[in-house]
Amino acid sequence: SPVKVTKICCIGAGYVGGPTCSVIALKCPHIRVTIVDLNQARIDAWNSDDFNLPIYEPGLEDVVRQARGRNLFFSTDVDKAIEEADLIFVSVNTPTKKSGVGAGFAADLNYVELATRRIATIARSNKIVVEKSTVPCRTAESMRTILEANSKPNCRFDILSNPEFLAEGTAMTDLFKPDRVLIGSLQTPEGISACQSLAQVYANWVPKECILTVGLWSSELSKLAANAMLAQRISSINALSAICEATGANIDEVSNAVGYDTRIGPKFLKASVGFGGSCFQKDILNLVYLSESLHLPEVAAYWRQVVDMNEYQKRRFSQRVVDTLFKTITGKRIAVLGFAFKADTGDTRESAAITLIKDFLSERAFVNVYDPKVVHEQIWMDLQEASPLVPLDNIKKQVTISPSAFEAAQGADAIVIATEWKEFRDIDWERLYKGMNKPAFVFDGRLLVDAEKLTKIGFKVTTIGRPS
Ligand code: NAD
Ligand code: UGA
Repeated sequence: SPVKVTKICCIGAGYVGGPTCSVIALKCPHIRVTIVDLNQARIDAWNSDDFNLPIYEPGLEDVVRQARGRNLFFSTDVDKAIEEADLIFVSVNTPTKKSGVGAGFAADLNYVELATRRIATIARSNKIVVEKSTVPCRTAESMRTILEANSKPNCRFDILSNPEFLAEGTAMTDLFKPDRVLIGSLQTPEGISACQSLAQVYANWVPKECILTVGLWSSELSKLAANAMLAQRISSINALSAICEATGANIDEVSNAVGYDTRIGPKFLKASVGFGGSCFQKDILNLVYLSESLHLPEVAAYWRQVVDMNEYQKRRFSQRVVDTLFKTITGKRIAVLGFAFKADTGDTRESAAITLIKDFLSERAFVNVYDPKVVHEQIWMDLQEASPLVPLDNIKKQVTISPSAFEAAQGADAIVIATEWKEFRDIDWERLYKGMNKPAFVFDGRLLVDAEKLTKIGFKVTTIGRPS
């Protein structure tokens, strides 16, 4: 019969490990959950007295306040947590490789492998090892080989795949009421039994019919497939937004009309300045690499186009800003509102704002940037990484981080909305207008503001997916 899980260890206290295992602790008071990480600063933040957590996610603090110290613990003592646990989530980062074979495409599995090797070295009792990170199809096999080659006698490992589908900004609601929980296992009696152990954990709050159990490889591939198809919808609508701008059609009206078809559905059809986030691009490139390794070049090219279209969308938007501002932005000041890759998160990974600002800087414009949640240090790091050859001091001469949208707009020629923070819709636009150079331009990269209202104030408004 399946092992009843009483102690869980989660390796990786990031955007996935932190929220996911905090919710498990909240919903399963009988399970002791320890989230570990090598990064001391991150763990200190999770443990901070004033709950100044390392990631911003609406509703997260509340959950951590309820469970921390009761059955939820954060620690850098990775070995102790591994030793004690009967089930271990591996929730470490899997970024795109920057060098070596598959550079620019393949997932860097080094962190997964190091965590796996640590488990093999430390474990003295049976463990269920759960792949939570997003990984290429068949990674579980490599994990099993490593674990089995290094295991102690009488110590068995079962490997499960349990990909995470939460989106940042809505992580807590996604975790409380997931569309589905997916668990993949080998279809052996041991594999199925391990799968049941994990399913029982989720069954504490997820309805049974939403817990899908499948084969290991299907589970791994389903995660890449889901992200690829979500990103594909955005690239499709963004491709159509270019046609709208050239023809006079309105992308919001097109999305709405198309989304009314129940087979298509209304979600994820919002045109934008391009998708960002740590995963869409990474996971599609991963799928492209997988397809190429499997000698399926047509399949690789098909998915590749989703990323190419996204790059095109960002480029097209910065070009439109320059063209509209009388074909030069040299010496002009541009206020960029929003730096996070989407609203309600402080995360900036692959944010479109980074590319836009880089483009503006290369045109020798000045940029004021304001984001309600992103920490300043992160903005400097991202801008430096985007332009590695430009000394940071030079970047700082061109870029100012403003404490509010109002101050960002002071003395600016144009406002560019890069993130759909609600506060940008509700700000006092008349007040912003007064502080700007005239003509004052607004470029709405997020279909966020009421263009008519702003035009009445005096702004010249350019909206994605609408003709100028
Ligand atoms: P993250 O970078 O925020 O967190 C990963 C953490 O793992 C880091 O804090 C790092 O220090 C730690 N770590 C790395 N190696 C370690 C080791 N050997 N021992 C202990 N700690 C170690 O990453 P994330 O955003 O949480 O993503 C994790 C995985 O989940 C990725 O594979 C990602 O694709 C996937 N995923 C992410 C999201 C998301 O919204 N961010 C959603 C679904 C799936
Ligand atoms: C995405 C998926 O939605 C999650 O299911 C998945 O677990 C996660 O990736 C992951 O694997 O990391 P996330 O990147 O956090 O979640 O956020 P999304 O809401 O998917 O937004 C991604 C990007 O697409 C954002 O830049 C957002 O602004 C953009 N987007 C989204 C659009 O441009 N238009 C839309 O209609 C929707």
